[in-house]
Order: sequence, then C-alpha cells, then structure tokens
Amino acid sequence: MIVTTKKLFELAYGKYAIGAYNINNLEQAMGLFLGNIDSQAPFIIQISKGARSYTDKRMLEGLIRAADEVFPEAIFAVHLDHGDVEACIDCIESGFYSSVMIDASANPLAENIRITGEIVEAAHAKGIVVEAELGQLGGVEEHVKIDEKNAHLTDPDEAQEFVDGSGCDSLAVAIGTSHGAYKFSGAQALRLDVLAEIQRRLPGFPLVMHGSSSVPQEEVARINEAGGALKGAKGVDEDEFAKAVPLGVTKVNIDTDGRLVWTRVHREFFRDKPEKFDLRDPGKMFMAEYAKFIAHKNQKLGSAGRLEEVRAALKA
Ligand code: G3H
Ligand code: 13P
Ligand code: ZN
Repeated sequence: MIVTTKKLFELAYGKYAIGAYNINNLEQAMGLFLGNIDSQAPFIIQISKGARSYTDKRMLEGLIRAADEVFPEAIFAVHLDHGDVEACIDCIESGFYSSVMIDASANPLAENIRITGEIVEAAHAKGIVVEAELGQLGGVEEHVKIDEKNAHLTDPDEAQEFVDGSGCDSLAVAIGTSHGAYKFSGAQALRLDVLAEIQRRLPGFPLVMHGSSSVPQEEVARINEAGGALKGAKGVDEDEFAKAVPLGVTKVNIDTDGRLVWTRVHREFFRDKPEKFDLRDPGKMFMAEYAKFIAHKNQKLGSAGRLEEVRAALKA
C-alpha cells in the first residue's frame, strides 16, 4: 500500500526513523520488499534522477506497482530523491509519487525558499508532500562532487525561517554526514548538538538525515579481498540513529550501503565461480543478502516490528 511520507512521519516522530532506500532495478526492489516484510517495517522507496534515467522512468514505476501487488502486506511511500524543479514537476504530474524532494540547497537562502515554495504549491495542490534541504552535504551526488570546504552545516537560525517561508513538509539537514562511501577523513562526527538546536526551533517537525550509510567495514574488507579497491571508505555509526530519533529525525537515507552489498556479492561470486555466467545466480544471492541488510538496518532505525501498528493507525 502506497502512503504519504507525511502520514508515516506523524506516526514515527520521536519514536523511530523510517528507512529511505534508493532503488534502480528489479533485484534491489525485490530485496527491499522482502527485507521490509521480514522485519515488519514501513519504509520509503527513493528514486533519484539518475535512477529515473538509468532505463526509463516508467520501468521503475512499473516495478513498484508490481511489487505493491506481489507484497500486499507492505506499507511504503514513493519518493523522488534530490529533485530539481523539472523532475519535481514531472513527478507531481505523474500522479505516482507520494512525495518529492526539491533540492535547491546550493542557492542562497531566499532563492532556496522561493524555489521550494513553488514546488510546495504545485505538490500540495495534488496532495503530494515535499522534502526540502537547507545546508549542504559533502560527497558525490548526481555526479557533482562537493568537497569538505564547500559543504556547510544547516544553520539552526535559518531553519525556522526556511520552513515558514517555503511551507515544506520535512527538512533535510546537514549535520556532518555526506553522500557516498568516503564520509569522514578522520573520526566520524555527527553534529547532534546542531540537530538539537534545529529541533528546538522546529519542535515536532520531521527532519531527514541524508548520507546515512554506515559503510560496514566488513563489507569493504570483503570487497577488497575479492579484487576491489575501496581505500579509506567510512560511514556513519549506525548506533547513532537511536540518538538522532528523539531529536526529530524521522527519515534516514541509505543508498551506498546497498551498492556495497551488490558489489561484494558479485565480486565474490565471480571470483569463486569463474565458470558461471547465468546472471540469475548472483542475482538470487544479492536479493537475499540485500533483504538481510534491510532487515538489520530497520532494527537499528527502530522501524522493525512497526508494520501492524502503522496499519492499524492508517485504518483508524
Ligand atoms: O544522494 C544520492 C543518492 O545516493 C542517489 O545517487 O544519483 O547516483 O542515483 P544517484
Ligand atoms: P548514502 O550515500 O550515505 O547512502 O546517502 C544516500 C542519500 O542521502 C540519498 O539521498
Ligand atoms: Zn541524499
């Protein structure tokens, strides 16, 4: 069942965070649904602009519609990740997405408010909710690399003005995370103090943590042992999620970790079975491993085991 993120956030706020997972293909979709059903968690499927153009955006929409039928138990939202104005309008008009993210965070505050406000108006007219971003994460996103000196944390003093001025429904905050597999050059550092200040200005307002892959070191080591070259990859300590939840984080974005599971499964498979060439063999292994990964992540986010209480609240 497809629901809006707004409804999921109302139910989750302060208690747990919803996992928002990016998908690009069939195997990721299958692993994602299986893992969320196994762990009995509501979830968010995220589709980036890159995912929409990887094949044809209608292919992913078709996959998700089919998964909704194959897994009637599932409760999830469908979300455009890091949209620009064009992608947001396209998704709003498609009638398929339950929420969109407008990422105008590279602009000065007033311009970010203006662009976000335009998308909010168009989205709300169709019952679609909007995530916006204030501050800038480092890392690689849509092929643009933002280095550490150009990344900047969300200014809590601007957060309330931004939300009031734009009318957005949730806010992605920059609190020290970054996109990709190389998040911290030194010790990992989530700025929970900045998050607490933002929550003080915006009590009860759903906050979103991007760049939240944990880049498991065991996964990185296995990839490297199987021929990979991921040097110095490092992510967010997944035990920090439980600290961010009471501070207003209700959505946690995870993409890179899924790519690492895919890479490990396929590198090991072809190293160990060089005679094989049926793509379904590693595909089956990946779906099972990705499902396991998702179920584990949902435990850390606190969303595991919430499915029936969410279903009951949606019926009430
Ligand atoms: O934040 C970016 C997401 O990880 C999506 O990545 O644009 O390569 O699909 P992508
Ligand atoms: P990661 O690169 O940490 O998985 O972040 C994903 C993300 O923020 C998608 O919007
Ligand atoms: Zn992101």
